[in-house]
Amino acid sequence: MASSDISAARRNFLRLLAATPLASAVGVPAVLEALQQAKPLAKKKAAAPAAALAPKDNLITAASEAVDVMDFEAVARKNLLPAHWAYMATGVDDDATIKANHEGFSRYQLRMRPLVDFSRLDMSIQLLGRKWSTPIVLCPVASQKGFHTEGEKGTAKAARAKGHLMCLSNQTSTSVEDVNAARGEPVWFQLYARPDFASTTQIVKRAEAAGCPVLVWTVDLLGGSNRETLRRGEGPLSVRAPFCKECHEGRVQPMAQGLASVGNLERGAGPTVFTWDYIKRLRDVTNMKLFVKGIQTGEDAELGVKAGLDGLWVSNHGGRAGESLRPTIDSLPEVAAAVSGKIPIICDSGVRHGTDIFKALALGATAVGVGRPQVWSLAAFGQEGVEAMLDILRRELMMTMRQAGATSIDKITRASLIDRLRIG
Ligand SMILES: Cc1cc2nc3c(=O)[nH]c(=O)nc-3n(C[C@H](O)[C@H](O)[C@H](O)COP(=O)(O)O)c2cc1C
Repeated sequence: MASSDISAARRNFLRLLAATPLASAVGVPAVLEALQQAKPLAKKKAAAPAAALAPKDNLITAASEAVDVMDFEAVARKNLLPAHWAYMATGVDDDATIKANHEGFSRYQLRMRPLVDFSRLDMSIQLLGRKWSTPIVLCPVASQKGFHTEGEKGTAKAARAKGHLMCLSNQTSTSVEDVNAARGEPVWFQLYARPDFASTTQIVKRAEAAGCPVLVWTVDLLGGSNRETLRRGEGPLSVRAPFCKECHEGRVQPMAQGLASVGNLERGAGPTVFTWDYIKRLRDVTNMKLFVKGIQTGEDAELGVKAGLDGLWVSNHGGRAGESLRPTIDSLPEVAAAVSGKIPIICDSGVRHGTDIFKALALGATAVGVGRPQVWSLAAFGQEGVEAMLDILRRELMMTMRQAGATSIDKITRASLIDRLRIG
């Protein structure tokens, strides 16, 4: 074997190892250190998706070096197996809704108002009777041990250290009980309804027994999702490395222990049809407060209010559900108008800066969620990375509030925004 092939093989081996439970046995830092020293894959040898996902130069080497949340992205790209990277990065079809989500924020300009006394700036919010020191929420993100061996516990500890609301994914790679222990209090729990109501009920009751105060039912994947980037990144089953089997074959996710296997709840439309009457069914089996995640129109917001939901989550799943090309920041105003303050609204998708959070709050969100920045920072530096990512967003939001003369969250209103599409 030529030496470049040996390096490439070694590097591939180490990348695989770093993402498996084996890494914790031999020590992740040791694996990552060896990974850093391994020569990069020769470009001509890389498969097309891996080449497209090649690391950038000048990566940050410590969480504290990050200037904005995107700085974590390149490090995550370097650390992750191509298939795991593709799972995170994927949208649907041409990934155009991901782009639209972020670009959507540039539709709005900010009207800055200096010379306001911001010495007692208050970023706290009230959400279902509970005070949070910041409106920044950690969205449900599946399979976090695939991004870092600390997995959901690393995220939960960061949420605890920085005082943020965390919503745990149904597809968590760590049990809700263990995550709650790491968070120091129960997290919110996100649900993917299963085809049979009995096993859905079991998951819901388990989350409730663990103390989770809020159930978030995600509805935007019920029609399936055409994740092309994921499929290209993971490649055909036949070429997967033997290591992949360890996590992907025969292992039952913590929240599905003891339940019948139902296939991939994130990917395909199941045989069951779900409609608004499912809210009542969920209500009948739990006393947890209930949100629906994946609302994008005023009509559905009205139906949600009528169905007695405790809150709505405006989301297009970070562009990983349907290729609507419609950023959630454009969906938010019609949802907020329909809700008219009756219940809280969380909004996510494409949020990368404090100014994005400010704009969502101005357009009617009670709180604002981040998905991929969580994965990037976790994959880059574990808990420390997530903490740094949260610090950056919080600092940016604080600065924007000062600049715009909004000294508390309720003072962030539409008056601070100019909608560029309405000019002229
Ligand atoms: C890797 C990944 C896994 C996700 N897993 C879930 C999930 O299990 N349940 C869910 O409701 N949303 C899930 N989401 C969507 C997020 O909760 C959130 O809506 C979205 O990531 C926000 O967009 P952003 O990534 O642009 O911040 C996932 C997103 C990503 C990137």
